[in-house]
Amino acid sequence: MRKPIIAGNWKMNKTPAEGAALVNELKPLVQDAECDVVVCVPATDIYAVSEAVKGSNIHLGAQNVHFAESGAYTGEISADMLLALGVEYVIIGHSERRQYFGETDETVNKRTLTALNKGLIPIVCIGETLEERETGKTEEVLRRQTVEGLKGVEDLTKLVIAYEPVWAIGTGRTATSEQANETIGFIRKVIAETFCPKCAAAVRIQYGGSMKGSNAKELMAQEEIDGGLIGGASLKAPDFAQVVNYNK
Ligand code: 13P
Repeated sequence: MRKPIIAGNWKMNKTPAEGAALVNELKPLVQDAECDVVVCVPATDIYAVSEAVKGSNIHLGAQNVHFAESGAYTGEISADMLLALGVEYVIIGHSERRQYFGETDETVNKRTLTALNKGLIPIVCIGETLEERETGKTEEVLRRQTVEGLKGVEDLTKLVIAYEPVWAIGTGRTATSEQANETIGFIRKVIAETFCPKCAAAVRIQYGGSMKGSNAKELMAQEEIDGGLIGGASLKAPDFAQVVNYNK
């Protein structure tokens, strides 16, 4: 059985005080959640939110991690720095980082291996653009991102994959639940072929892209979908709680 995991990706939103307030409002709303609940916050919010989540069932995540131990990497953050503040999860290779910050399958792979090595749980993002989907390249792109991004990972069950079709992010355009289910099934097949069938069956794969309270139940009812990576709908506690409590 794969335990569902709902993670919020705040992206570049919320000051530390706003982030702590959001979490304090969220705590009672999600305390009975049956899934793993994670908030992936901006680096500047990590300390304030780590204090706010104490004693709750909300887990703390970051939005990026560098692959080096330490050194001359201005603007980057190391795994040890995250771990020191109680971070457990880290988003790696989000399409916005691939699109705007030069992230590649190779850097995704390096960050993933470092995160795992250090004991962080990577949430590795993959997904095709609209052009890629419309030109029939979805499977080729997802296969490449999966195989290259996860190369050398010994135990795939120690990470989470987020399938986020780029055309569904922040657009209000969700993949249909059947589309998302089928595509995630394909990713699982690639993992079974490339890595091992047992880990393909055990690895958790989230859907992300305009997922919200009103569509979470239907998406989560799909066999292959093990959770959600939530952008816009994670920025208000009641909205995010509605996704977390999708089965209530
Ligand atoms: P939205 O939920 O705002 O579409 O964002 C999805 C996403 O990119 C989460 O990482």
